[in-house]
This record gives sequence, structure tokens and C-alpha cells, in this order.
Amino acid sequence: MSKTFGKVILSGEHAVVYGKTAIVASIGLGVRVKTVGKGKSDYNPVVAKAIEIAGGSQDLKLEIESDLPVGSGLGSSAAVAAAVIKEVRKQLGKPIDQDELFRLTLECEKIAHGNPSGIDPAAVVYGGLIAYTKGQPLEQLLVKRQYKLLLVDTGKPVESTKEMVEMVANSVKTTEVIEKITYMVREIKDRLGRKQDIGNCINQNGLLLEELGVVGEDAIKLSNKLRSLGADVKITGAGGVQTGSGMMIVMSSDLAKFKEFLDNKQFKYFETIVGGKQ
Ligand code: MEV
Repeated sequence: MSKTFGKVILSGEHAVVYGKTAIVASIGLGVRVKTVGKGKSDYNPVVAKAIEIAGGSQDLKLEIESDLPVGSGLGSSAAVAAAVIKEVRKQLGKPIDQDELFRLTLECEKIAHGNPSGIDPAAVVYGGLIAYTKGQPLEQLLVKRQYKLLLVDTGKPVESTKEMVEMVANSVKTTEVIEKITYMVREIKDRLGRKQDIGNCINQNGLLLEELGVVGEDAIKLSNKLRSLGADVKITGAGGVQTGSGMMIVMSSDLAKFKEFLDNKQFKYFETIVGGKQ
């Protein structure tokens, strides 16, 4: 059995595509892949590519179990690809090191995402809390404080990450908003290092993503309601506008109050911790 974990981008999605730094953390939910024998299987393109790139045969029968909602910003495709590659290499008796696993997972990501920054594979493969800049050595952040957050499901976006990245590329606002997001990322990184609150900065980043045009109407409505009740809110990942916007980070010193609110409104959510000891 091979396991990997999903990720949550705390700050800097979309900006990271433009060579800026983003901060990402791995989360407790993930993917488990088990080899169950041989036989014909109908794999999706990412799994088929992962098997091929790892040097395995397509008639390998794998059982894939995932806790991660697909296409909702938690790194599901990178986590599946990395777990499959690990499992295939294990079966071949050729265990893989982290750097090679990152490289091969990034190749698989290109199927679904066109030109991914590599932040999802980096988070899935190296884990922990990372400051990631495309093409540069990643920086593991040693954050002594734990930050609790809720991840709320605003619905699966109909748009792919590739489409959202293209939409941002075509917006006249992009350069200006990306600069402001980059400032928030720096601020959050400093605050993590000093064990300070990051809620307000997360919220500012959330508002900037709305300004960038990657958050749909329903998610904006929910954000506004949660903000009016005192929470800090930001979508995480590529976002989506036509229907759902994927997962949304909610931070507050009183998470119990927001859990009750979300339960009453029948939103799906889970709690996770980043930083400190998990
Ligand atoms: C997706 O998790 C994050 C984006 O910045 C795309 C990427 O970095 O490849 C939207």
C-alpha cells in the first residue's frame, strides 16, 4: 500500500503561476493505493500516465481509495498520481526518492493542468508547510504554532484548473491583483515565522481572489455571510465561477460557532491543522 496526502494553499494561488511565492500545507486527508493483482482496468488519463511513467504495465490492477474531493483545490490529482507512481515502483522493486517522485508527478499534472506551477506535486511529495516558487528550491517553513482551520465545500467547480488559469491570464486586472496577493503572501510568511495570527491576511487574500474573478456568486455570498459573523475567509486552489468554487478556508478564534452555522446550512466541511505538530 502506498499513501500520499492532499494540500491546502494558504496563500498565493494563481500568483504562483507568475513566478511568485505561494504557501502550501499538507493536510490529513489523502489517497491510498494498493496492488490487487493483474487484469484489464479502465484508468483515467492521470492514473494511466502515472503507471506508464513509473514503468509499470497497464494491466496492473490497482485499488485507489481517496478522501479528497476531486477538482476542488485539495490536490487530488497530484496525490493520486504520486501514490500510484510510488506503488508501481514498489511493485517493481525500485523505490523512488522524493525528487524523482516530484518530477514524475509534475509530468502527470501536465495532462490535467496544461502548465502547472508544480505547487500541488511539491506539497504532496515533500509535505509539511512549504513556501513554493516555481523553478526554485522549496523552502520548508518551521512553524512552531498550530493554526486550526475549517475547509468548507462550496461545490465542485465545472471549470478545470487549466481553464481558471487561462481566465486569469486574460483578465486586465491580473498584474495589479497578483502584486497585492504577493504582498499578502510575504506578510503571511513573516507572521507564521513569528507565531502571529494570520486570519486577517488570509481574509485579505480571499478578497483579492474575488477581485481577480475566480470566485463564483454563491461562494462570495457565503464568504460575505461568514465575514459578517466575524470569520476570515478565502477560497483555496484555482476556484470556479459558473457553479462551485471548490474548498474555502474559514479561520476564527471561535470555530465552534462557524461549525454550528455550517451544520445548520448543511454545508460539508472538515477541520484541519497546519503548522506545529500534526
Ligand atoms: C492550483 O492548486 C493552484 C494554481 O495556482 C495553479 C498552479 O499553481 O498550477 C491555481
